[in-house]
Amino acid sequence: IPATPPRISVIGTGYLGATHAAAMAEMGFEVIGVDSDPLKAAALSEGRVPFFEPGLPELILKHVSSGRLRFTTDLADAVALSDVHFICVGTPQQRGSNAANLSYVEDATASVARSLTHDGLIVGKSTVPVGTAQRLRSIIAASTPVGVAAELIWNPEFLREGKAVADTLTPDRIVIGGVTARSEAIMREVYAMPLATGTPLVVCDLATAELVKVSANAFLATKISFINAIAEVCEVAGADVSVLADALGHDVRIGRQFLNAGLGFGGGCLPKDIRALIHRSRELGATKVADLLQQVDEINMSQRLSVIDRALEACGGSVLNRRIGVLGAAFKPLTDDVRDSPALNVAAALHLRGAQVVIYDPEAIATAQQMFPTLTYADSVEEAANGSDVLLLLTEWDEFREIDPVELKKRVVMPVIIDARNYLDAPRWVEAGWSITGLGSNTKS
Ligand code: UGA
Repeated sequence: IPATPPRISVIGTGYLGATHAAAMAEMGFEVIGVDSDPLKAAALSEGRVPFFEPGLPELILKHVSSGRLRFTTDLADAVALSDVHFICVGTPQQRGSNAANLSYVEDATASVARSLTHDGLIVGKSTVPVGTAQRLRSIIAASTPVGVAAELIWNPEFLREGKAVADTLTPDRIVIGGVTARSEAIMREVYAMPLATGTPLVVCDLATAELVKVSANAFLATKISFINAIAEVCEVAGADVSVLADALGHDVRIGRQFLNAGLGFGGGCLPKDIRALIHRSRELGATKVADLLQQVDEINMSQRLSVIDRALEACGGSVLNRRIGVLGAAFKPLTDDVRDSPALNVAAALHLRGAQVVIYDPEAIATAQQMFPTLTYADSVEEAANGSDVLLLLTEWDEFREIDPVELKKRVVMPVIIDARNYLDAPRWVEAGWSITGLGSNTKS
């Protein structure tokens, strides 16, 4: 039976695990974060976070200093010293397939089970295809040492990058699947702080817990592709999708969030999660959701093509040797994550077509450079705009709203901007003499 309060290990310290570990320490527990990458574990041990996540370095530093939080590469040691083990490793899309790669989750779970020196509760947090947890239970049963009892439950995570700390400390809901009376009591203790402030707790079976997570992301993705589909009609009909979205959003059944039309969704979660759900539901013979999400994915990818087409059009049909300034590289603001970034995808496609693409992003230049070393990067908006034939706004960072269109116009060859996130105050740019085009709006001029 775990000690009270239970001691916690967190296996995998990426965006999810590092934030979860820090949040658990903030909630009063002793926490050990485990990562197979020694550089990452060493950086975190010194309170340095190897990615950009607002508020996280402060929280990690606070608890590394308080002694409640430490990081190691030694999984067996961490497991021996704790009672509740959170699995927070990645489930990336498999190469050449829509399916999720479950090898990290399977390896991490088997390693924890093998390393147990006393009874333990293993808590899956990674996003997995439905049915995975049940399979992991067999792996655990086969790997746990004799005389030690292990239980596996599922507790999906809903944090957003850029808002990870707040989402983890004050989540919208806590879902726990496949619990026994004993493990439910432990989870209630682990989450006592958010539960005390009224956070809803959903107790369900393993499969439901796994599916809640992917359904939430599938719904968010569907909302975005829905508004992008409506944006297409708006454009041909001369309507304005931003005003339309505001009007829709006043209906509380619909809500305004995730109705921003534009370049569409990217990142390490939404695209791969809907693809994994397409794959898994087809395996299970549940084709309706697969067909629906296939459309969602296609609409989303077509947004990128549509922005590329607009850039080609703005340059008179060919971007060869044209200079294109790109504002934004991250898949969304407040992160330096460029996994499946629509912005970088568009920039790279224009580069391939012979354009001189110069990219500026407030936080994601280093990560973008790693992924696309042959592209050119700038240190400021001005540098990206210098001598450009067309400017593209591809990620809606706050600082892009601060741009003075009058000043910026002096730097460009052609005052043309494609606002692929419908983010700028178009009339202001028009007044300054720019031609500005949004997606799904009638503000072209
Ligand atoms: C998403 C979910 O929002 C989280 O709840 C979930 O926990 C997480 O995935 C995960 O599975 O780990 P995240 O990937 O951080 O979080 O990003 P979002 O804020 O959901 O944005 C996803 C993409 O949608 C971004 O590229 C963003 O630019 C785009 N988006 C968002 C739109 O194009 N339009 C909108 O109206 C909203």
